[in-house]
Amino acid sequence: MAYAAYVFDAYGTLFDVHAAVRRHAEAIGPDGQLLSEIWRAKQLEYSWTRALMGEWRDFWTLTGEALDHAFERVPSADKGLRGELMDAYFKLDCYPEVPAVLKALKATGARVAILSNGSVPMLESAVSNAALDTVIDDVFSVDPLQTFKTAPAVYDMVTTAYRLYPDAVSFQSSNRWDVAGATKFGFRTVWINRARMPDEYRDLSPSLILPDLNGVA
Ligand code: LAC
Repeated sequence: MAYAAYVFDAYGTLFDVHAAVRRHAEAIGPDGQLLSEIWRAKQLEYSWTRALMGEWRDFWTLTGEALDHAFERVPSADKGLRGELMDAYFKLDCYPEVPAVLKALKATGARVAILSNGSVPMLESAVSNAALDTVIDDVFSVDPLQTFKTAPAVYDMVTTAYRLYPDAVSFQSSNRWDVAGATKFGFRTVWINRARMPDEYRDLSPSLILPDLNGVA
């Protein structure tokens, strides 16, 4: 079935969140994977905590705070690499299949968009660094709402802007918690289970589970 809009989560779905640490793997040393995992987990935790307490800070600030915490937890990694890692996070690689899948979806006449917790500058930089400017119609950042997924207001940005009912939107995310939020909102959802994780939030199941974006188009 074709959908009027295909909307993608950014981090972990289009852009590889572990690419920043991988790019500096040699300088970081043996605990790079641990550093990257703590960095990502804390970045997400801070977004949920801040959203719940109503004390918003943009995702770029939280990304930096999460990296500082990860460095504290992984003493073998040189804190002097902070600048390089933040710079790499600002220009993350996209996954290899992303450009072709997005182009194929755009060719069907559907709208292709990003809906992300990322700040506007982060998302603009990632999109242009991956040369996706011409295939992505719209980038919806949480910045104007000053909250984070899984607040329903975030998913509602898309339906309000496009004047669509939620079930006309196919939403793709590699983050199972984000799939749960989007399913609850009413989007048709596809879980891009890149990390081969076991299922969770079983009352809020996706319509489709794929190992990468191939198969969405
Ligand atoms: C995003 C993060 C949370 O919204 O993956 O892009």
